[in-house]
Amino acid sequence: KKELIISPSLLAANFGNLERELEKINNSEADWLHIDIMDGVFVPNISFGFPVLKYVSKLSEKPLDVHLMIVQPEKFIHEVKDLGTMMMNVHYEACVHLHRVVQQIKDAGMKAGVTLNPSTPVSMLEDIIRDVDMVLLMGVNPGFGGQKFIEHTIGKVRVLRELIERTGSSALIEVDGGVNLDTGARLVEAGTDVLVTGSAVFKAPDMGEMIHRLKMLGR
Ligand code: DX5
Ligand code: ZN
Repeated sequence: KKELIISPSLLAANFGNLERELEKINNSEADWLHIDIMDGVFVPNISFGFPVLKYVSKLSEKPLDVHLMIVQPEKFIHEVKDLGTMMMNVHYEACVHLHRVVQQIKDAGMKAGVTLNPSTPVSMLEDIIRDVDMVLLMGVNPGFGGQKFIEHTIGKVRVLRELIERTGSSALIEVDGGVNLDTGARLVEAGTDVLVTGSAVFKAPDMGEMIHRLKMLGR
């Protein structure tokens, strides 16, 4: 059995003290750090940009899992790479030439992830699944943390797991939005490899303990 990967989302952190928040993540069992970049066009919200992330990337000891909720993400491949990013996730819905963008991300030396909104079917990935390192399924409509999990996502994980097995793809399955101990347990059972958790982790009384409990869902 593969080890379950936990990727806490910085969006839920206290921005008044990023240094302390990142130290807590660094000292936890978290595997990656999930970074949400929003442009106010692709999603109805704006988060943080590269000047802030430059500082975050210096403080983080965890590999960066960057989720771009922006139109034309290919314009920022080099900025994302400069952060030292391990995984660059672009939205299927934001890329007219997805195959080209995936190749460009890999040519830049990063792993390539493709993200699906709740309304986009897994079957749209049929012709790209062998080329991607990860598929990120949204468990909520992107743009905000703390939203309620859309139950249909569990079924999408099962369908994606089948597609990956049928095609011999090595893509990981990540789920983002509304993940907590309850939804997380069911997502892992359905075949999820990576859990993104924002509010469940940052609003917990003991962040390290919550990350530990999420991590144990994979054992
Ligand atoms: C939503 C972001 C998520 C968000 C998850 O647009 O992509 O990463 O931070 O937050 P929670 O875990 O609170 O749903
Ligand atoms: Zn995200």
